[in-house]
Amino acid sequence: MDSIVVTGGGPLSGQIPIAGAKNACLTLMPATLLSDAPLTLTNAPRLSDIRTMTTLLQSLGAEVQGLQDSQVLAMSSHSLTSTRAEYDIVRKMRASILVLGPLLARYGHAEVSLPGGCAIGARPVDLHLRALEALGAELDLREGYVHAKAPTGGLRGGVIEFPFVSVGATENALMAATLAKGTTVIKRAAREPEIVDLAQCLRKMGAQIEGEGTDTITIQGVDRLGGATHRVVTDRIELGTYMLAPAICGGEVECLGGTIALVSSFCEKLDAAGISVEETASGLKVARKNGRVGAVDVTTEPFPGFPTDLQAQMMALLCTAEGTSVLEEKIFENRFMHAPELMRMGARIEVHGGTATVTGVDKLKGAPVMATDLRASVSLILAGLAAEGETTVSRVYHLDRGYEHVVGKLSAVGAKIERVKDA
Ligand code: EPZ
Repeated sequence: MDSIVVTGGGPLSGQIPIAGAKNACLTLMPATLLSDAPLTLTNAPRLSDIRTMTTLLQSLGAEVQGLQDSQVLAMSSHSLTSTRAEYDIVRKMRASILVLGPLLARYGHAEVSLPGGCAIGARPVDLHLRALEALGAELDLREGYVHAKAPTGGLRGGVIEFPFVSVGATENALMAATLAKGTTVIKRAAREPEIVDLAQCLRKMGAQIEGEGTDTITIQGVDRLGGATHRVVTDRIELGTYMLAPAICGGEVECLGGTIALVSSFCEKLDAAGISVEETASGLKVARKNGRVGAVDVTTEPFPGFPTDLQAQMMALLCTAEGTSVLEEKIFENRFMHAPELMRMGARIEVHGGTATVTGVDKLKGAPVMATDLRASVSLILAGLAAEGETTVSRVYHLDRGYEHVVGKLSAVGAKIERVKDA
């Protein structure tokens, strides 16, 4: 297993290119199951989660090529050999549930393993199942699998009203509805940029969709979808993560490919903390020239609110802010596991349920710490950039799921960081 060793310092300066979005690619790839024509994705990120989704699609008989030395994924599902997603693959990545809607819509049946537990919360998939039932599906949970069957003649349009916002359930429902007979209306839909990206790709494939990016999406089902080539949207979470690097240890960094629209609520918090963000011709320039960061309160919400996937990284910043910040995690019930690790570095954090109170200290101290999930792992690396001495982050396999070339990207702007093999 590898670790990452960071020696605190700064200021940072230079440019960091931002990759295509993991969470967009993980829903765009299953869209290939909706059509017998090729779907090609460009600007696809090279991450272990994308490789897991590739393995899953190939296990169903889809052809998936590319990604070795390019950011192009060429996919085709002209003749699938199976509609069963095995536990062995699904247990590695929850997003595997996103093959359920497309398989059911195109083939009329599917068996998909339930994802099981997750470090950051229970994360049930009941809303995904309710949505497909609203399109006429019959579902039976047996031996840890969802056995799904469409009515004769296929899924039919319906009204899906989610009790609260779910990104994944909106994506599954949206994909399934493209081939359902008649009209589907999704109410209280998720509005994330990844949903908008999916809708734009589906439209290129011939789907009839309106309202993506709002809380109501309307889909007119069609008999068949064609192929398309689609560029994956920029990863707003990777963007936000690297914007915090100069914020946390000083300097000025331009994040290439970033736009304020992708991270507007996050930028408001950076501004309140005294960090300058400026849109340039090729991205976002972030600078912290002098003085300490100011304390700010943060509450995570669905888009366009403050993203839960940037909460851990924001906590790392606020550990050395002037004053006390309150972070409220409203999306997942167990997403403060980075707090005890930051406390090992000298942070002052009190966690009560979904609320963390962070009292800023002058300086963090380097220490050996352990990654517990994807976003927690990168928050520890950010904290290490500002800490005195060396920080060793272990279990970085979590990081590989969502960040490409962290060491290369941060070294390029002057960080002292390296990846080492554990003894
Ligand atoms: C997506 O997960 C992202 N993952 C997550 O990013 C992100 O944190 C999350 O959206 C929220 O923005 C991918 O896109 C692959 P949800 P998803 O359904 O779709 C509950 C990362 O770090 N819920 O919007 O699983 C659920 O438990 C990852 O990249 C149900 O109760 O999130 C949670 O509390 C982590 N029943 C809340 O809703 C359901 O059927 C929001 O979950 C579905 C969800």
